[in-house]
Amino acid sequence: MLDINNLTIELMGTANPFIILRDVSLSLKNGEILGIAGESGSGKTILAKSILNLIKKPVVKTGGSINLDGAELSSEKDFRAIRGSKISMIFQNPTASLNPVFTIGSQLIETIRIHQPKMSVQEAKDRAVELLTEVEIPHPEERLNTYPHQLSGGMNQRVMIALALSSNPEILIADEATTALDVTIQAQIVALLKKLNKEKNLSIIFITHDLSLLAQVADESFIMYAGEIMERLTSDQLRNDDMRHPYTKNLQSCVPKIGDNREYLNTITGTITFNNAEFDNACVFHPRCDRATDKCKTSKPPFSNGFTCWYPY
Ligand SMILES: Nc1ncnc2c1ncn2[C@@H]1O[C@H](COP(=O)(O)OP(=O)(O)O)[C@@H](O)[C@H]1O
Ligand SMILES: [Mg+2]
Repeated sequence: MLDINNLTIELMGTANPFIILRDVSLSLKNGEILGIAGESGSGKTILAKSILNLIKKPVVKTGGSINLDGAELSSEKDFRAIRGSKISMIFQNPTASLNPVFTIGSQLIETIRIHQPKMSVQEAKDRAVELLTEVEIPHPEERLNTYPHQLSGGMNQRVMIALALSSNPEILIADEATTALDVTIQAQIVALLKKLNKEKNLSIIFITHDLSLLAQVADESFIMYAGEIMERLTSDQLRNDDMRHPYTKNLQSCVPKIGDNREYLNTITGTITFNNAEFDNACVFHPRCDRATDKCKTSKPPFSNGFTCWYPY
């Protein structure tokens, strides 16, 4: 239903533009949970934002296309028609995303009435209770009168999900939506997203830096590095550690133990490479790769058989 073809996004304004996303292609099928993982700075948020045309100069789309149900989204008008309606998004810090001075109820009712202006306040209130029930918030009617600071981060993320669902979206993009939460709450939110996926046939793009989460949640996952797709994995491949790309192998070996909240890539030596024209004819991961040869410095591996590497495992 959502097809991204050869998307390239650059940071303009310098002689040698920094490539934030290079030639990214992926598709989300109806009813699927698609995972995207990669360390900080790999372009996950820019990818999510570009699906909704939320990128701004000097970050510019310089190639590729985004297509929804077979039709290309190109003008801002196209994107405005789907943003926050057909496609909704939730982010990392729910408490900061909610307005502290309004109750949960008034924020929900206002958003519901933006999508359905003909609804009366009472109808919107009933709908708000229904949405809070859907996201499994206990005592939903009482919760309408509470303020975001009175709720935990996990509860506020449920409220954000309720807000995102208020337009009956077909696609939900969750960008690090569980990252700020502790492990138990994280598992509950993941379970909720899986329930919504099954019961409402909601398609989900689940973005995380945590590979172990993807094994639990995603039907199919894409591993990104420095703005490029390194590997595509099914949930079975992820669960069975059946990965071919050296970068994914590295990520897998760096997955933290339960309770360890640090970004897990600290143990791969070196820092993320800035992708630019230097890598037009080279593998972008080669400076950090222990399998790299001269070929990797002079010839860019194509994405083929699910990975982008000359010397896969
Ligand atoms: N507005 C911006 N201006 C300049 N660089 C940006 C901007 N937004 C993102 N970037 C750069 O683009 C890269 C990808 O960022 P991002 O998508 O936020 O990564 P991730 O979500 O994977 O951590 C990073 O190197 C980041 O510094
Ligand atoms: Mg991000």
